[in-house]
Amino acid sequence: MTEQPQRLTLRRPDDWHLHLRSGAMLRAVLPFTARQMGRAIVMPNLLPPVTDTARARAYRDEILAALPPGSGFRPLMTAYLTDHTDADDLAAGFRDGLFTAVKLYPQHATTNSAHGVTDLRTVAPVLERMQEIGLPLLVHGEVTDPAVDIFDREAVFLDRVLEPLLQRYPALRVVLEHATTEEAVAFVRRHGPSGRIGCTITAHHLMINRSHLFAGGIRPHLYCLPIAKREKHRLALRRAATGGEPWFFLGTDSAPHPVGAKESACGCAGIFTAATAIELYAQVFEEEGALDRLEAFASLNGPAFYRLPPNDDRIVLERSGTVAPEPVAVDGNIAVMPFRSGERLDWRVVEG
Ligand code: DOR
Ligand code: ZN
Repeated sequence: MTEQPQRLTLRRPDDWHLHLRSGAMLRAVLPFTARQMGRAIVMPNLLPPVTDTARARAYRDEILAALPPGSGFRPLMTAYLTDHTDADDLAAGFRDGLFTAVKLYPQHATTNSAHGVTDLRTVAPVLERMQEIGLPLLVHGEVTDPAVDIFDREAVFLDRVLEPLLQRYPALRVVLEHATTEEAVAFVRRHGPSGRIGCTITAHHLMINRSHLFAGGIRPHLYCLPIAKREKHRLALRRAATGGEPWFFLGTDSAPHPVGAKESACGCAGIFTAATAIELYAQVFEEEGALDRLEAFASLNGPAFYRLPPNDDRIVLERSGTVAPEPVAVDGNIAVMPFRSGERLDWRVVEG
């Protein structure tokens, strides 16, 4: 038997799907990501959403001002696609290095998606422009048809929306965000070799299945969208993440909400994993006997898809382990519950 490694040096990872929020919440959660990640794709579903270059500039400035002194973290901004998006404004933002991507939320699919796209035909000119200039479209892949069972919404989206979208825009570059099903894994594998599709996988979808949401009682802190699926899907995601294929990469979808908004008669969707993101992934990769593939998933595949260089510096993880933090205070009172709060994880970040 080979000896277990005690230390792991990785090129600094990036988070290719992250919710940072704004104001006091942003100031509370940002340091956790900035400690580990070199860059993050910042989701635009604020209230009001980040729909244009003016708002994206203001939001980027707010994030930069909230960074711990000396941090080299770089937010990569996204535009929230609406029925009224101005293609010229997006193109200017991309040309100036402000926008890295555009996010598609089907209307009412998830948190703050009321301004989402009602029908993809209304944004056809924008999508044409994006494919022309190489601006990637990031997709929340769930149909919103209430007749479709919540556990089927991703699989149905692939057939009804994503496949036709890829056909209609043959050069559009697309990331299927937070995949949760074996159907999504198969879909990405089928299209992956074309080089035009990427796929993020969250740490929590690698760790929980739908039964965990109801283990001993309802578990609001495990509720997110897309909702966790059956065990067979979790296992398919684990094989995808750890299998070494270049189209799968790290995106936490860390989505903080105040505890009171989660523990509620109508609790918000979102799991806050940013506090121990790379430790959670390291745990999964080790369980799958694939620690040697963690760096590609966390630090190389994402930049390759986005046509960016990987980070130059490195982080060091040590087997001494860590405990996921206690609830994080926001503005001294409301709290955010970290995923696995109070539980032990096998790895900890010691340098970087
Ligand atoms: O669980 C989720 N939370 N899924 C999303 O798509 C949005 C996110 C949020 O913003 O809270
Ligand atoms: Zn998200």
